[in-house]
Amino acid sequence: MSQITSNSLLELSLDLATSLSSKDRFARLLNTVRKAIGCDAIALLSFDDDKLTPLAQQGLSNDTLGRRFTLDDHPRFKIICQSQHPVRFSKDSTLPDPYDGLLSDHDGDLPVHACMGLPLYFEQKLIGVLTLDSLSPNVFDDIANRTLEMISALAAVSLNTAMTLDLLERQALHSQQVVETLALQPGNIKCQEIIGSSVATKQLMREIRLVGPSPFTALIQGETGVGKELVASAIHANSPRAHAAIVHVNCAAMPENLIESELFGHVKGAFTGAEKTRAGKFSIANGGTLFLDEIGELPLSAQSKLLRVLQNNEIQALGQDNTETVDVRIIAATNRDLAKEVEAGRFRADLYHRLSVYPVNVPPLRERLTDVHLLAGYFCERLKRKLGIMQISLSNDFIHTLESYDWPGNIRELEHFINRVTLKAKVNISDNGVIKLRGVDAAELASAPTAPESMTINHVSSKNVPHNEDLKLATNHFQRQYIEQVLMQENGNWTHAAKRLRTDRSNLMRLAKRLGLTLTKVVTTNTKAQL
Ligand SMILES: Nc1ncnc2c1ncn2[C@@H]1O[C@H](COP(=O)(O)OP(=O)(O)OP(=O)(O)O)[C@@H](O)[C@H]1O
Ligand SMILES: [Mg+2]
Repeated sequence: MSQITSNSLLELSLDLATSLSSKDRFARLLNTVRKAIGCDAIALLSFDDDKLTPLAQQGLSNDTLGRRFTLDDHPRFKIICQSQHPVRFSKDSTLPDPYDGLLSDHDGDLPVHACMGLPLYFEQKLIGVLTLDSLSPNVFDDIANRTLEMISALAAVSLNTAMTLDLLERQALHSQQVVETLALQPGNIKCQEIIGSSVATKQLMREIRLVGPSPFTALIQGETGVGKELVASAIHANSPRAHAAIVHVNCAAMPENLIESELFGHVKGAFTGAEKTRAGKFSIANGGTLFLDEIGELPLSAQSKLLRVLQNNEIQALGQDNTETVDVRIIAATNRDLAKEVEAGRFRADLYHRLSVYPVNVPPLRERLTDVHLLAGYFCERLKRKLGIMQISLSNDFIHTLESYDWPGNIRELEHFINRVTLKAKVNISDNGVIKLRGVDAAELASAPTAPESMTINHVSSKNVPHNEDLKLATNHFQRQYIEQVLMQENGNWTHAAKRLRTDRSNLMRLAKRLGLTLTKVVTTNTKAQL
């Protein structure tokens, strides 16, 4: 190779500046350097944490981009990185060549060849390396050291700008993906207050404050509707990642053949229907939290892929050669008993242990019935605004009935119940825009088929029967007392009571509801009365 003229150096610097705007700016940087210095293979690598990561290459096999070169394993790279100046290796050097077997036009070990490395410094800091290889020995010998120094300096400035632009572009794309994902997420993933003052809820709050700031994976378990999703967002909000996003993945809602792409992403053309490159939920959650909801529904094949990612924090998009390191905190939730799922062979034991570093059990509502009145108030206040009602007031017997029910659908059931009864009661809204919910409005709970063994019967309005009652009121009064008596004799069994009263169960229940009869259930044993 002949000497490089100052003209070609000037051209090189102009080319480098213009190549920065292009999408494949690293590849363009190589083209430009290669125009000035002819060679068979050229690679640009970034330096970080004692290891070199290829950013672009020409003349080497494609898999080179997936390799990571640790300095301790590659003496030639180590020498380049420790030098302040371009390094030319002697053609007889016995040091192993990191590109042995990787040259695309040459099978097997590299023969005698010319090899050169330019360390790239920006503000006295090593940011990367440019390597050049040629099968013609001595080809780099004629290039003046000063020229190589200038090429290194120009390439270093370009590499620094290219990496900064790349980072900014990736950050902008990531923010856009996060915004798009959050916009599609169910509304209540936004952190909402956890209402309740029972011992069980206070204990739950303590656990959230304990596990939140830690980096541990949390596994939230509990029946349906207990508030697992709420707990997940509270853990995230109590973590150092609170400023970043919590990305929700519903493992039950993903078709099995799309799970991998959904979690890890895919590149365009990776499979039929993959029309454009798409980031996976792991990469969108990078820097934040990934909430794997309904984890118990994840098929075994997907469980093993998830386990691998949790072990090495690296994801590989479908159809992509490179892996991407991600920094994601995992919170998982399920209403299944995962330990039992493991026993039954439906859930991988190793994944279970990795997920349940910190298990959080959310108790069912029936174990914290003292929260019911606060929750009811909370839901009414929210509903008021939605339905444009002045006030929804709750009578003691209404609350009492709510507290006597065992809420198999937990807080979600309570929320839906409040919505339903308020909507029904809205028909009879008073002139001042106030809805008053009374025991009678909760009659459907009192008659629900979960009533326990012993019970007392409340007649809500019979206490207030006036002395001079008209026929209708008197009849109601009599009916209420009579039904109450029969129900007591039949131990609260509506079917038996209806039989004795020669009516059917649903008619009797409807009538009782109209009359303001409610059952207060007192749990004494686990045995449930047959209603
Ligand atoms: N302590 C609470 N305070 C206020 N609202 C609550 C509380 N717990 C639950 N909720 C509300 O109850 C509803 C159900 O909660 P959530 O969706 O978190 O339940 P879940 O445990 O995830 O149920 P599933 O297993 O069915 O998915 C939500 O609307 C949630 O906002
Ligand atoms: Mg849920």
